[in-house]
Amino acid sequence: MYKESFNQIINRENTNCYKYDWREKIFNKKDVMPMWVADMDFPTPDFILQGIQERMKHPILGYSFYGDSLLESVRNWMLKRHDWEIEKEWIKLTPGVVPAINLAVLTFTQPGDKIIVQPPVYFPFFSAVKDHKRELVENELLLKNGRYVMDFDHLENNIDEKVKMLILCSPHNPTGNVWHKEELEQLVDICVRNNILIFSDEIHSDIIFKGNKHIPTATISDKAADITLTAMAPSKTFNMAGMASSVLIGSDKKRMNQFMREMQKFHIGMGNVLGHAGMEAAYTHGKQWLDEMMEYLHENLDFLKSFIQKNIPLIDVIEPEATYLIWLDCRKLGLEDKPLKDFFVQKAGLGLSDGPLFGKGGSGFQRINIACSKNYLEQALNNLYQALKTDNFI
Ligand SMILES: Cc1ncc(COP(=O)(O)O)c(C=O)c1O
Repeated sequence: MYKESFNQIINRENTNCYKYDWREKIFNKKDVMPMWVADMDFPTPDFILQGIQERMKHPILGYSFYGDSLLESVRNWMLKRHDWEIEKEWIKLTPGVVPAINLAVLTFTQPGDKIIVQPPVYFPFFSAVKDHKRELVENELLLKNGRYVMDFDHLENNIDEKVKMLILCSPHNPTGNVWHKEELEQLVDICVRNNILIFSDEIHSDIIFKGNKHIPTATISDKAADITLTAMAPSKTFNMAGMASSVLIGSDKKRMNQFMREMQKFHIGMGNVLGHAGMEAAYTHGKQWLDEMMEYLHENLDFLKSFIQKNIPLIDVIEPEATYLIWLDCRKLGLEDKPLKDFFVQKAGLGLSDGPLFGKGGSGFQRINIACSKNYLEQALNNLYQALKTDNFI
């Protein structure tokens, strides 16, 4: 039903969207194919636009709290999609997941405390620690037989009494990991023993490839639920990041109240009225669209893998278990980071996310966003292939 809409190529220029309208600013080149920032080129689903339009039929968009029906839609989604039974009282709206991470850092840690992140990882995790004068502890992921794993020995060896929080990316951007139950159990065990709060960023948890199952960290055990704050949002799943609407879920009432007090200091606890409408529509009507979108994404992924395997043996695709952001291992091209980035931008005309942005382990990698029409992806890969041929890499 929606496939045709995924095939469409929609002109997004002059809509103030970062992806297209900031090309010159980011890549110094206006005509790159932008496949970097994590939003999709698919239209935001019709039922979400209708939900927003429905709210706009009322002529006043004044200060508004979020109602019971929105919380119920979140609760139902978590239950149906993630087998996670939550209570409505556990849900608080946040104006984006990155703001929620920063607020959690401010609420639950003090300057000088240590916070663990696991690079290569979504880079705002680093600034959420450093900008607030907390100390970054990096537990670099290890690439073993084509799949990234957590380095539990290194983690244990780097914990001391100053470590207060771990920011987990689950599923993991940019490597595409869906963390296995055993991995989460081991991580939770370490955090419980060391009194470390887990901020579990699960923004990509709906975008899961066949054969994998996302497990919310808080569902691992009662103890896991006690020490975990979970961030979720419809923004990545349904291409509505511009609504800046997400949720933080936690069963510890005292902790959630503490978090709310911090939000109230900044007067940002009410969300925004159109974001509420969009989120409720997404979580109420989103199942079919998401299932179809995942099928399309799977086709794009299969196409990317087979194209690269057949034509560009110097690049390895890290098999993603989740997300539409694919981590490309370009180390066999033998280029330093700056020339690698320049090659992609200047020679291939592709604006990807540069590996080193993601911290340790990012050198020699590029991240490509495949949430676009198949034709667009095909053109991008052909451009890459031609550029590599011209420069005698293949
Ligand atoms: C892991 C992760 N967390 C958070 C975000 C952004 O969340 P928000 O726009 O809600 O701040 C992204 C966007 O790419 C992401 O990949």
